Amino acid sequence: MLILGIESSCDECAAAVVRDGRQILSNIIASQVELHARWSGVVPELASRLHAEWIQDVVSQALAAANCTMADIDGIAVTDRPGLVGALLVGVSFAKALAWSCAKPLVGVNHILAHLYAPLLAEPVEYPFIGLIVSGGHSLICRADGFDDIAILGTTIDDAVGEAFDKVAKHYGFGYPGGVAIDRLARSGDARACRFPVPFLYKGKHKTYDVSYSGLKTAAIRQLDQFWNPAYPRTDANLAAAFEKAAIDMLCGKLLLAAEDTGIKTIVAGGGVAANSYLRSVLANHPSLRCFFPPLALCGDNGAMIAGLGFRLLQRGDRAGLDLNASPRVAGFRRT
Ligand code: KG4
Ligand code: ZN
Repeated sequence: MLILGIESSCDECAAAVVRDGRQILSNIIASQVELHARWSGVVPELASRLHAEWIQDVVSQALAAANCTMADIDGIAVTDRPGLVGALLVGVSFAKALAWSCAKPLVGVNHILAHLYAPLLAEPVEYPFIGLIVSGGHSLICRADGFDDIAILGTTIDDAVGEAFDKVAKHYGFGYPGGVAIDRLARSGDARACRFPVPFLYKGKHKTYDVSYSGLKTAAIRQLDQFWNPAYPRTDANLAAAFEKAAIDMLCGKLLLAAEDTGIKTIVAGGGVAANSYLRSVLANHPSLRCFFPPLALCGDNGAMIAGLGFRLLQRGDRAGLDLNASPRVAGFRRT
């Protein structure tokens, strides 16, 4: 079955053709990053307008690169939530029009679940596993029992991890997107230069799997003098390394706790921050965990993960009608 996947939830206008939920025939990603860079963040109205301008061309390119036409496509999958609603609506409207005009089945795909499906495009992973979904808008630790059956174990109580990377990088002028810039700078820095406080949240006497990034972000931006070790020079690289270590160690601590408490030793990561080299090395080298990461090209937003998960949904009979709508929020996840 050939599925066309369409993604427009944020600042990537993307489309892909995937066979049977595994084999990527094409994966076109038109990034708007350069056009949002002067604001050091995504401008929602600009994102929607660019999606509206680009989407037809992106979908045509995805079909051409897969060497097929709409006649060969068996179904259309489109991100319908969560994300910037104006941006989502462009993809949803385009997909509905295409599905109607070509008489193809349509399905709406949850972007968060699709990030978790991205590593499964490269290799099969057995359920259950602990999922780590880390992006500019989300930081979730969950138990996954199926491709759309997840229970949230922990989440951020304030900023998302990617957002913290972006805000710190913006403040210090490191570049945009901030996570990529900090990752690059950190490689030549020494994390011992600054010992940031890393909160470990409790509910009553019990440890929770939740994380919090607003304190770390404020410490990095406003209270550097308090935490800097004077034995080390105040370089961008040292700051980036120390911030990255604190941000990622916080996630890994919670992930290990979840693995210990549930007895599930398989970790699957997805989302833009899953591209982080320190996160990948800490988890890959952990002696008792089996960790699966998407290839770097599939960490950020892309149409292949939408087509991949869309295939599973269409295969079990899910269908969206022409009343399919976009939603800015994730809804319906169980919280343990
Ligand atoms: O999944 P994604 O492309 O879009 C959202 O759904 O948000 O994730 C984007 C986020 C941004 O915050 C970006 O700074 C972060 O992922 N990011 C990284 C890295 N590459 C992208 N964060 C840390 N290290 C990276 N290498
Ligand atoms: Zn995303």
